Amino acid sequence: KKTKDQLIIDAGQKHFGATVCKSCGMIYTASNPEDEMQHVQHHHRFLEGIKYVGWKKERVVAEFWDGKIVLVLPHDPSFAIKKVEDVQELVDNELGFQQVVPKCANKIKTFLFISDEKRVVGCLIAEPIKQAFRVLSEPAGPGSPTSTECSRAWQCSDVPEPAVCGISRIWVFRLKRRKRIARRLVDTLRNCFMFGCFLSTDEIAFSDPTPDGKLFATKYCNT
Ligand code: ACO
Ligand code: ZN
Repeated sequence: KKTKDQLIIDAGQKHFGATVCKSCGMIYTASNPEDEMQHVQHHHRFLEGIKYVGWKKERVVAEFWDGKIVLVLPHDPSFAIKKVEDVQELVDNELGFQQVVPKCANKIKTFLFISDEKRVVGCLIAEPIKQAFRVLSEPAGPGSPTSTECSRAWQCSDVPEPAVCGISRIWVFRLKRRKRIARRLVDTLRNCFMFGCFLSTDEIAFSDPTPDGKLFATKYCNT
């Protein structure tokens, strides 16, 4: 299928000549031992999910019939930070993102959606930003290299618009998608990002969205 080719191209140079694991979705180079080891790790984690036993002073910011959302801040105890790092690693592996060092690590807010089975099934990482560039609704026109070679290169407006909060990652465990988990994570973020106000959809921006991310963001922002 077409999407699979695109997935490989999307990941860029780092993954040239790569394999996509059909069960865990990770893109890796089978001939590279380091990559292969990372894959084995990711594969297990993916299949069993990341366990979450909870901690005494966890910050529950929303509760639902099928789970809850916990907020983790940069100065939280190291076991909480470790959990966030594990999740981020899983997400980055799945998205084929390289590790991105955030500009303001001490202002990052991480929201974890914890299922009733005590697994981390959703994650949203947000940071304060000052401006964003709107993704134009039409991807680059036919014949332009971006539209055929890379489905992630949306054409962006070059006019900056003010924004408050950037979503650098949003991810939902594969088997739990389309259950409004991402929507509830963003709702909770809008409620908790700045004390005492509910951010409008204009004030949040999704950074470098994937096709899934763009479909979700478009739907979310219009409703
Ligand atoms: N295709 C079409 N519409 C979609 C999709 C999709 N893949 N995903 C969400 N939507 C729309 C739907 O209209 C949906 O409502 P509906 O189910 O009632 O029709 C609405 O968005 C709300 O969807 P949720 O159920 O809240 O979304 P979900 O919990 O499934 O999570 C997400 C969406 C996070 C994009 C998930 O598919 C995912 O983790 N994908 C892989 C990781 C990824 O690509 N993340 C985005 C990266 S971009 C970034 O991080 C900034
Ligand atoms: Zn795998």
